[in-house]
Amino acid sequence: MIAADTSYSNGAVLPQGDSPELVLVPATPNERIEAIRLNSKAWRGLLDLETYIERENHLHQQRLFQDCFTCWILVDRREPEEYRTILGSCETYKKKAMLAHGGQVEDVSTHGVGSVYCRPEFRGKGYAKRMLEELSTKINDWKMETETRKCSLFSILFSDIGKEFYAQFGWKPFTSSHFALPPISEDTYAAAAIKATLPKTRALVASDIQTTMCSETVLQKERDLLAAASETSPGPKVAIAPNFEHFEWHWAREEFYAEKIFSDRELPVTKGAGEDIAGVYCAWNRNFGETPEENTLYILRWVYDEPTSPEQSEAIVKAMAAVLRRAQLEAHRWDMATVEFWNPTPLLEKAVALLDPTVEVVHREKSSIASLRWTGAEHGLGEDVEWYLNEKYAWC
Ligand SMILES: CC(C)(COP(=O)(O)OP(=O)(O)OC[C@H]1O[C@@H](n2cnc3c(N)ncnc32)[C@H](O)[C@@H]1OP(=O)(O)O)[C@@H](O)C(=O)NCCC(=O)NCCS
Repeated sequence: MIAADTSYSNGAVLPQGDSPELVLVPATPNERIEAIRLNSKAWRGLLDLETYIERENHLHQQRLFQDCFTCWILVDRREPEEYRTILGSCETYKKKAMLAHGGQVEDVSTHGVGSVYCRPEFRGKGYAKRMLEELSTKINDWKMETETRKCSLFSILFSDIGKEFYAQFGWKPFTSSHFALPPISEDTYAAAAIKATLPKTRALVASDIQTTMCSETVLQKERDLLAAASETSPGPKVAIAPNFEHFEWHWAREEFYAEKIFSDRELPVTKGAGEDIAGVYCAWNRNFGETPEENTLYILRWVYDEPTSPEQSEAIVKAMAAVLRRAQLEAHRWDMATVEFWNPTPLLEKAVALLDPTVEVVHREKSSIASLRWTGAEHGLGEDVEWYLNEKYAWC
């Protein structure tokens, strides 16, 4: 049993954030549950504590994180394991990634950081600061023994507390924009499809996403594009590998909620939409918020080939618009308040303009700020890096 609430918080003097006695260590399984119990106050949302812990365990077991997950806790080294007071906690997830420089691309690994937490009564004492400082010295080598490069050159996180906090520790903010579109009813969908002469789309189930968006051919195309980009413009480029495990993880989350909260409904099987002639595909998931207004159908990723002619470009834009319409309909069917997709490309901007020229790109300042800590300069790869495929699928 963890004595987290019975030591420091019970009157004993808390250590300073810069105390030499503080260490960042992987939590034991019990300590991990204790860390989840503590952070539940911030993140359990609609779930009761028990269901929240169940959700975390369920996500933890997904293939994306098998043997790749670490729950870290900041503790006083003088306290005995299992009885340590958790001063701060966070999680890291090792992920497959791509790194391109000088026209060459490497399959590499990186870490995502998430669930950075300090309980309210311990805040403002420099614990989160100490935790992230410690983490930044450990993370690059962590679980990298089997990799060709024995260290990772970067790590990512998505800040919900703006752009400054993580930047102090090296996680710099990258482009964090999105389009938000409203749901549309069956009638509007039918009418719009006729009026706008958009092409027909098909709904995609999980196996379709695997074949159309996650095959080795598609992943190789992304590697080639990254390599080509690093030949034509200076500086390294990185991307989180958009492998199928990412989508499975996002869907495990939506299915968990669908099962627990909407048990009277069927599980959501439509995982995206596509238009085969132009070769445009997207994968999505439903995010159930604390209030109905927060329910969001996120487009996790887009796949399409760059057009080589104006005709092709027009066909792709129309196909994107049709796929977006299909996403808006899906949002309506699942009582989602909005459809959102991140960091739109110029072609996607055109597709949105086709549907509604008044919709504008939103530049986020506070939530889901895509942040990346780059240490490639120490390896001769330069000070700056570009983040490709910076889409929602990479969120953790
Ligand atoms: C964010 C959080 C982890 C910070 O914990 P903390 O222990 O209070 O932070 P620290 O005391 O180590 O603060 C270190 C520095 O960051 C600053 N800081 C703290 N919280 C900040 C915030 N939300 N935004 C910007 N700066 C912040 C502090 O002022 C301090 O600056 P200083 O060194 O110049 O004095 C804590 O507030 C928390 O758990 N919040 C709820 C969960 C959450 O939102 N987590 C982040 C998810 S992305």
